[in-house]
Amino acid sequence: LIAFFQPKVLAGRRVLITAGPTFEAIDPVRGITNHSSGKMGFAIARAAAEAGAQVTLVAGPVHLPTPAGVTRIDVRSAQQMHDAVLPRAPAHDVFVATAAVADWRPAAEQGEKIKKAEGQRVPAPFALVENPDILATVARLPEGQRPWCVGFAAESHDLVRHAREKRLRKGVPLLVGNLGPATFGRDDNTLLLVDAAGERELATADKLTLARALVAEIAQRLPAV
Ligand code: CTP
Ligand code: CA
Repeated sequence: LIAFFQPKVLAGRRVLITAGPTFEAIDPVRGITNHSSGKMGFAIARAAAEAGAQVTLVAGPVHLPTPAGVTRIDVRSAQQMHDAVLPRAPAHDVFVATAAVADWRPAAEQGEKIKKAEGQRVPAPFALVENPDILATVARLPEGQRPWCVGFAAESHDLVRHAREKRLRKGVPLLVGNLGPATFGRDDNTLLLVDAAGERELATADKLTLARALVAEIAQRLPAV
């Protein structure tokens, strides 16, 4: 019922969102991942749809129901997330990157399970390579193909400084900071909005309330159509 009365501030807009962790396979039974629950990204997808947007949600491995009216694409690795996002980005007005993308992946996925070998119980160290930066890549698309980009940052300390630096480094108009890993998996959160004008805090609330407030903040900042 609340959803019905949400102002349709994103009517006619197309919003692309990444959410959840990624999983980088080491071998068929192991991998590198993180504690992102996907809840914040899924709440933003729901809030954007309530606000009248056409929403595409690219989700890493999470067990969350798809919000009503949202088109969902499931991926596993950072590379798959990148490959799902890049061709779709130019057809969207807004890109919100909430995913906790693994920064590195094993250089090669072993086809067979790595076994403890007699005399060598610890496997040989494996090389890691850097994953593509999905947000930075979308933020560098040429004008006309580039959606309005929102980045997220979970920082364990010095949130304001890191969020400011990250906004500039990623080249995005809006960066949303929160203190992680304290927020991972929790139902409430506090958000710090950093844009060219400065900082603004969205006070601690449940993730859906924050998502709705963030959607309103994004809608205000979007260039008119
Ligand atoms: N991001 C992304 N692709 C990556 C890494 C990050 O799209 N390969 C996005 C995240 O979804 C988030 C933003 O970039 O919106 C910031 O992610 P974060 O991990 O905080 O930044 P990094 O640049 O990876 O820096 P670090 O992990 O060292 O703090
Ligand atoms: Ca990172």
